[in-house]
Amino acid sequence: MIHTQAYKKLQEHFTQSHKTTLLDMFNTDNTRVNKFNLSLDGLYFDFSKNNITEETLSLLIQLAHESGLTEKISAMFNGDKINNTENRAVLHTALRSPNKQVILDGVNVCTEIQLVLNKMKLFSEKLHTGQHKGYTGKPITDIINIGIGGSDLGPVLVTQALKPYRKNNLNVHFISSIDGYQLLDTLSNLNPATTLFIVASKTFTTQETITNALTTRKWFLDKVKDTRYIKQHFVAVSTNTRAVTEFGIDPENMFEFWDFVGGRYSLWSAIGLSIILYIGFDNFNKLLAGAHSVDEHFRETKDLHKNIPVILGLLSVWYANFYNYATQIISPYNTRLTRFPAYVQQLAMESNGKSVNKNGELLSYKTCPVIWGDSGINGQHAYYQLLHQGTSIYPMDIIYALSDEFSIKEHNDILVANAIAQAEAFMRGKSYETAKQELLKTGVEPHQATEIAKHKVFTGNRPTNTITLNEISPYSLGMLIAIYEHKTFTEGVIWQINSFDQMGVELGKQLAKTIYNDISSKKISAHDNSTTQLINNYTRID
Ligand code: F6P
Repeated sequence: MIHTQAYKKLQEHFTQSHKTTLLDMFNTDNTRVNKFNLSLDGLYFDFSKNNITEETLSLLIQLAHESGLTEKISAMFNGDKINNTENRAVLHTALRSPNKQVILDGVNVCTEIQLVLNKMKLFSEKLHTGQHKGYTGKPITDIINIGIGGSDLGPVLVTQALKPYRKNNLNVHFISSIDGYQLLDTLSNLNPATTLFIVASKTFTTQETITNALTTRKWFLDKVKDTRYIKQHFVAVSTNTRAVTEFGIDPENMFEFWDFVGGRYSLWSAIGLSIILYIGFDNFNKLLAGAHSVDEHFRETKDLHKNIPVILGLLSVWYANFYNYATQIISPYNTRLTRFPAYVQQLAMESNGKSVNKNGELLSYKTCPVIWGDSGINGQHAYYQLLHQGTSIYPMDIIYALSDEFSIKEHNDILVANAIAQAEAFMRGKSYETAKQELLKTGVEPHQATEIAKHKVFTGNRPTNTITLNEISPYSLGMLIAIYEHKTFTEGVIWQINSFDQMGVELGKQLAKTIYNDISSKKISAHDNSTTQLINNYTRID
């Protein structure tokens, strides 16, 4: 990125333009929103409250072209092995494509995808119609997904967001942490005879998941006392048939996916089994269709000015690399999307939190900002103080639904009013003079107003994107998630990194194994003195 023409032009442009505030731009152009909004299938994206002009956007788009974005989008969809460090294709888009053919290493992956989808469909139908029962003949009432990271966050997000669509009043639970409390607490309310366990792990080697699965199986066998019943109550989702078989789950009860699906891009694969069981196959299909419509938009919209994920990605680059803003906030104004920030956090930070390019060369520019956030309306009463008046600036994506048949109209009106108001407040701010006049109007003495007004100043000029959905349905949720996937892809291309490996998670895992051995054997291997002391303090407790 650093050597491109557009990058240099953007640096000059930034120097010249960054003192113009958002309010200046709105005050001098009453058609501004018309220039900076896009729509797709009921989703509306207003990006007018960003520190950009038409020139900024054109230069950012030039940067995208110079980075080869269009070609790289095609390469991903065509199944080129763009995950170069692992020599893998990246084909989560094929999982939601109605196309019949994507050839990878001489195999049509669409045929395999359809086979697994059909297997999941049949299984879900059997469970919903009561053909698949627990070992005592009672219907299944509870689904437990045992998985972590990408084998957890997607299903957590979707099942929470789409709870009103659930089938048969089924309950879904998630065990992700190795903290035994989560497992014991979850199991304590469950009847093994009516519970189905899904062990979800791409690699089937993840310590947390395998340990939780083994403990859960023991809990189950302690209660039911017959290994034959495992078949009815345990299924696996993985790319690793051998490890699943070794674990003791019949491959018949395994739902497969493949190396061309990254963990954080996997909710559309068999990792979505808990979603299918919870909301039904038809609704899962709608989720896939929503994502596919964004795939088509991303791939086919060659005029990048109109490409929603591309614009989102470029704005992110603009703030990370030119404004040096270190974080971005995702603020959903809808309880059903509360887990969306955590989902995007893994998606973006595990994909783009890198300091070397695809060739392993050290980068001289910043990459992924910290992504964080929570329910927007709750955040207003907690950390928004700092966002409005703190010393740094944090670009924010505000997301809400125009209507919610599962909520209360008056409540949704207030919720949305707050979302819109926050975007306005972040942009507009409040001057010292306005603050002072407001105080005087309420009868505050002039000498006091002069002082207090200093604390009531909002500098404003804080950027937001607003994304609205008609409602939170399977289709619109599929769209929203896919938009952020492709935003992440766009950023990775500009930063010239491999967004599809995650080697930064390895060191901690490696050291944890050694320390666990130290703890179990009570023989402490060589560490720094702080680490040795921490291990000692822990082992002394036994
Ligand atoms: O440790 C990180 C990670 O590998 C993620 O990339 C992944 O989503 C998660 O762990 C779970 O991995 P698995 O599905 O293989 O258990």
